[in-house]
Amino acid sequence: MTDADLLTTTRAFRRRLDLTRPVDRQDLSDCLEIAVHAPSGTNRQPWRFVVVIDPELKERIAEYYRKGFAAYLAARTPRPDQRADLASGRYLAERLHEVPALILVCSVGRPPDQPSALRLASFYGSIYPAVWNLMLALRTRGLGSTMTTAHLAYEREVADLLGIPFDEVTQVAMLPVAHLTPGPMPPAPARTPAADLTGWDGWIR
Ligand SMILES: Cc1cc2nc3c(=O)[nH]c(=O)nc-3n(C[C@H](O)[C@H](O)[C@H](O)COP(=O)(O)O)c2cc1C
Repeated sequence: MTDADLLTTTRAFRRRLDLTRPVDRQDLSDCLEIAVHAPSGTNRQPWRFVVVIDPELKERIAEYYRKGFAAYLAARTPRPDQRADLASGRYLAERLHEVPALILVCSVGRPPDQPSALRLASFYGSIYPAVWNLMLALRTRGLGSTMTTAHLAYEREVADLLGIPFDEVTQVAMLPVAHLTPGPMPPAPARTPAADLTGWDGWIR
């Protein structure tokens, strides 16, 4: 797989997740070791990970996720081009508890209470590169995931469930991880060409 293949075919994998095949703990550990090579502000490495494989815990998290996802859906009218993505989102929500592993990515600290562009960029920008590193590392091992956040509507409840110290640590994303079922891996569709979104020596004309 070339770099371009890896980067253009690492999708939001939902229907392609094999819910019947366990994932290897060592594979997950290896991928997490790659994730921690991501950049972070002043190299503070704020990431913490909680890997959930226990069926009862997954069931409880999935319940919170489904409630969060339902509220998200209720609050929006999707554009026609978003309908397939939301249908696949619903598919995942209904089966989240069956996904072999859920990786919660957390960041030490709470989001800034007096947000500024700089503080927000530093807080969230110091954690999402690790999330993406992790997704790419998983993909190189035939494992798929989706960046998800719907459970964050119940962040405190999930923190209590897993013993995450809510006042000191923020959950930022959850990756449901499974082997990918066999089949072609086309690039992600529906991307506006970068050429249309880029200005050179000034804003886009
Ligand atoms: C910050 C963020 C939050 C997301 N939250 C969810 C989520 O809660 N549930 C979900 O199914 N997908 C979620 N997604 C996945 C997006 O829907 C997906 O990345 C996007 O539609 C592109 O999909 P594609 O790469 O397969 O084209 C999230 C993505 C991002 C970047």
